[in-house]
Amino acid sequence: MTFQVSVQGTELRFPCEPNESVLDAAQRAGFEIPFSCRKGVCGTCKGRLVSGETRAYAGDALGDADKAAGQVLFCNTRPRSDLVIAPRSIGKADPFARKTVDARVFRLTRLADDVMLVHLRFPAGIRVRFRAGQHLNLILANGERRDFSMANPPRESDGAQLHIRHVPGGAFTSSVFTELKRGDILRAEIPFGDFMLRDSSKPILFVAGSTGFAPIKSIIEDMVLMGVARDAWLYWGARRQPGLYSELPKKWASQNPRFKYVPVLSDEAALGIRHNLVHRAVLEDHPSLAGFEAYVCGVPAMTQAAHSEFLAAGLPRDAFFADAFVTRADVAAAGP
Ligand SMILES: Cc1cc2nc3c(=O)[nH]c(=O)nc-3n(C[C@H](O)[C@H](O)[C@H](O)COP(=O)(O)OP(=O)(O)OC[C@H]3O[C@@H](n4cnc5c(N)ncnc54)[C@H](O)[C@@H]3O)c2cc1C
Ligand code: FES
Repeated sequence: MTFQVSVQGTELRFPCEPNESVLDAAQRAGFEIPFSCRKGVCGTCKGRLVSGETRAYAGDALGDADKAAGQVLFCNTRPRSDLVIAPRSIGKADPFARKTVDARVFRLTRLADDVMLVHLRFPAGIRVRFRAGQHLNLILANGERRDFSMANPPRESDGAQLHIRHVPGGAFTSSVFTELKRGDILRAEIPFGDFMLRDSSKPILFVAGSTGFAPIKSIIEDMVLMGVARDAWLYWGARRQPGLYSELPKKWASQNPRFKYVPVLSDEAALGIRHNLVHRAVLEDHPSLAGFEAYVCGVPAMTQAAHSEFLAAGLPRDAFFADAFVTRADVAAAGP
């Protein structure tokens, strides 16, 4: 039996099979709900179930407070009845918005022992659009995909600059440090994601773990280019000092009195650098987060801890935005 899914407050509806996720059904019908991992790990597809019976499978990026508020993950929610849903956003997918291109490796720069700046150039004559904070999919020779965020602002859109961290044992990121060279071609589908600055005047907390700095750098540089003036803090965390691989945040702070930079190390003490988990350093400085917007990017354990602890500190649920840098290990741990 096919069920109907309606979107609260709109005329939008689409059919969904009992064994199909709401996310898959929406995409089949030509609608776009934000997603990333499709496995219940990252929380990107989170939204509210207004009414109806569902079952969930595999993975669980929801905390107890989310569940109590009727939140579900549309990538792992299948219908048992007709549903009414309230996703964070939904729209008609634009078939021309996303492109698959053969990008050329223009430059490789080692930013730290385990972080490579991979500068890709898109083919001449093809206009590739993305918004600051979004990511692309690299399509590997075996058809597998890997997500990486653009670190450059969209105005420099003849290419993409990626900050790629080597994941020990990781098939693709290992090859970046051993085989990839200037001139190589990487197939990329671009853009994906809704980790983007919202239109608001609230002060901003940017929270980055390691290469989670990449999309935040894109957003901050875009704010400068667009003349967006808001109070903002960047908390950038790494295990050890080389993990804070860019001096740019210091420059932004020296040029803009409304921008504050707080570097944080979790595994070692260093002069002038906070010693803590990055999201805890935020809470040390801002025990009440009621008036803020938070943009958080890094490994899933960090984004999930930040989500629950920031909400407990008064951050409104609709003022938390995150990209979780999920790997295949996280997906495998989430189950089939
Ligand atoms: C939206 C998004 C944006 C991202 N942006 C960035 C970015 O800008 N910069 C960045 O550095 N990273 C980013 N990431 C993370 C990045 O996508 C991963 O680190 C990358 O895909 C790893 O690829 P890999 O082939 O090297 O590792 P994989 O082959 O995927 O392996 C990762 C780890 O999992 C283990 N593993 C593999 N298969 C299994 C299995 N079946 N069971 C158990 N363990 C397994 C491997 O041994 C390894 O330790 C992003 C992720 C997302 C979702
Ligand atoms: S896309 Fe659903 S949790 Fe990641």
